[in-house]
Amino acid sequence: MELTTTYSDRNYPIVIGDMALAKLSEINHYQHYIYIIDKQVSRYHHEKIKKLIKEPDLVFEVDGGERLKTIEEYSAVIEAILASGVSRQSVVIAVGGGSVGDFAGFIAATLLRGVDFIQVPTTILAHDSSVGGKTGINSHAGKNLIGAFKRPAGVYYDLSFLTSLSYNEKLSGFAEVIKHAMLESEEVRQQLEHDIPTSFELNQLNRMDHWIMAGIKKKLDIVVADEYEHGMRSYLNLGHTFGHAVEFKHKIAHGHAVMIGLLYMEILSGRHPLQLLKWFHALHLPLPRFDDFSCYYDLMKKDKKNKDEYIQFVLLEDRPYMKSFGYHELLLAFQQLTSLLGGYDDH
Ligand SMILES: NC(=O)c1ccc[n+]([C@@H]2O[C@H](COP(=O)([O-])OP(=O)(O)OC[C@H]3O[C@@H](n4cnc5c(N)ncnc54)[C@H](O)[C@@H]3O)[C@@H](O)[C@H]2O)c1
Repeated sequence: MELTTTYSDRNYPIVIGDMALAKLSEINHYQHYIYIIDKQVSRYHHEKIKKLIKEPDLVFEVDGGERLKTIEEYSAVIEAILASGVSRQSVVIAVGGGSVGDFAGFIAATLLRGVDFIQVPTTILAHDSSVGGKTGINSHAGKNLIGAFKRPAGVYYDLSFLTSLSYNEKLSGFAEVIKHAMLESEEVRQQLEHDIPTSFELNQLNRMDHWIMAGIKKKLDIVVADEYEHGMRSYLNLGHTFGHAVEFKHKIAHGHAVMIGLLYMEILSGRHPLQLLKWFHALHLPLPRFDDFSCYYDLMKKDKKNKDEYIQFVLLEDRPYMKSFGYHELLLAFQQLTSLLGGYDDH
């Protein structure tokens, strides 16, 4: 499967499937190839990675995750690249999940004032992070606060990488697939549930090529229309306002928190979350032990988008829309959520 983005200029190909890495190998017009590769991916997919790299490519094997997205790691890697004497005819190739993609993209955006950048996603979540051009690292003041918009020159997605992901990682990435389906329509969400009704089908990656492509297309619809987040790009925050607070408070996987955020969003949208809840149960979504609402409220208020005591949410009717809520409405929705989840046994 292959598609090309539809910006007015600087479009790039997105190639999904067995032939993705072969297509990537055909690219030969750069002077220097700089690979930044997740160590876990090298470990599980050694043969595939060996085929990709040719002498005298520069290779950095890094630990994936948030520990990579620091100013110290950034400084170490970019200084080592510069010390090797690369030119602007270089390309940085990220092989890994969203953390490696964000990190390598920021290196590419800033190396010699910007060189090309290619994404080789290896997680389900990275179907989301590899398109749209947001790159960056974390600051002591918060996540993703140091960064740049940098469109990749191509995305080459070989889904056989996904087989080595733990179930937790699969479920976490799947949350963004669910979000994209919900942003498309209720009908599409139901088709997704039909294809992947339980943890069994998710573990088997049933029709994941189709759903990853669908998620990428939905994300592109939005980011091509609003690349720099002046309006509709914020629809991509569906489930994330409450989700981020839950993620921060309980230090749980991002996608697991987003799924809880989607349930909360359903309540705020005036829709009953029972169908979604049953599905998440069948997917074995783990739940934290919730705290008092005030701690989530305080965390949500810190979000830069919120004025006064009101907090803005992306909600769904037939289409996504924005609505602000005050403390009491949010508390009521939280009480409804926790009482519904009271009967939920995640084991
Ligand atoms: N730029 C964007 O638009 C955007 C969007 C969403 C999320 N993000 C960022 O993405 C990051 C999360 O990405 P993620 O969920 O892919 O996590 P990740 O990159 O941290 O990877 C998760 C874990 O899986 C391992 N891993 C990666 N590929 C693997 C494979 N094929 N087999 C086995 N293990 C593998 C990694 O080593 C890591 O331990 C966050 O930093 C988030 O801020 C960015």
